[in-house]
Amino acid sequence: MKGLILSGGKGVRLRPITFTNAKQLVPVANKPVLFYGLEAIAEAGIEEVGIVVGETKEEIKEAVGDGSRWGLKVTYIDQPEPLGLAHAVKVSEWYLKDEPFVMYLGDNLIKGGIADLVEEFRSKRPNAQILLAHVEDPGRFGVAELHDDRVVKLTEKPKEPKSDLALVGVYMFDHQIFEAVKSIKPSRRKELEITDAIQYMIDKGLNVQPYVIQGWWKDTGKLEDMLEANRIVLDNLKRRIEGTIDKASRLEGKVVVEKGAVIRKSVIRGPVIIGYNTLIENSFIGPFTSIHDEVEIKNSEIEYSIILKNSSIINIKNRISGSLIGKNVRIYQAPSKPKAYRFMLGDNSEAGIREA
Ligand code: G1P
Repeated sequence: MKGLILSGGKGVRLRPITFTNAKQLVPVANKPVLFYGLEAIAEAGIEEVGIVVGETKEEIKEAVGDGSRWGLKVTYIDQPEPLGLAHAVKVSEWYLKDEPFVMYLGDNLIKGGIADLVEEFRSKRPNAQILLAHVEDPGRFGVAELHDDRVVKLTEKPKEPKSDLALVGVYMFDHQIFEAVKSIKPSRRKELEITDAIQYMIDKGLNVQPYVIQGWWKDTGKLEDMLEANRIVLDNLKRRIEGTIDKASRLEGKVVVEKGAVIRKSVIRGPVIIGYNTLIENSFIGPFTSIHDEVEIKNSEIEYSIILKNSSIINIKNRISGSLIGKNVRIYQAPSKPKAYRFMLGDNSEAGIREA
């Protein structure tokens, strides 16, 4: 069995972060989302993995390499244009050939990995196995209708969802999927939808098995989900302190402080991760906050946020909350005159200001 990870796409819902970063490489608890997927596939005993890449190919290649870090043999597959998940399968046929495979969307995170599901697929050998999860807002996803544990209908982002069962971004297929992806037509958003391809299989009377997962699952495609994924992953951390903490600081609960990090006169309230060579001084961090490497935070308070590499936050009086701050960002007190906000925000940035 092979693995197929989809890592193309433009990450429109995470702009401006994704103007300069592949969405699959945005870190959750300081580790790129994509790496969780690679780990899950390796754990399921799969060794050969194709990664479908688009515009951000070079960045993904640099981060993942040949996959040997996970014991995987990685092959990169070009998808010249992001024309949908089913299109990604189509352009991967030369790599997958006749072998059954598990397809994993590179921005999805699933608690507990996929080993059990892959095992079930291997033993039962249906033509497809789809993962479903109960969600509050099914209209944002592909939605499944079941009758007596059989999948009867799949609809991509329906206006009036017929159930609360969303399609999770992990699918298992045998070679029958290729006929399906070649037969369907583009959807309203002009993509070849994997949802339609699976519906094609159902209509042909092939065996499509549902598997409803009970643990949490996140599609990290937008800010709120990214922060939630970060919260949940941080909550499962084990305390580990390798940096330097002075006597005037206090670390509470699940806190990870990486090598070279320095914490002075600060309170860190876990779950929190502080990256390599980061400096925290006279500040309050946490809970549910990931601070990446080489960041500097002084005289400020941050909670429920993700701060990426080499940024600095200095002398900010109000607490920063619910934020995703990119690489090399500077946030500081402007000079006292004129009394004004000073911004340099890229396209599609967002600044939420609450006056004291
Ligand atoms: C895609 C699929 C959708 C699925 C979702 C899971 O949506 O089309 O059926 O529920 O992934 O993450 P997209 O992220 O392309 O909007």
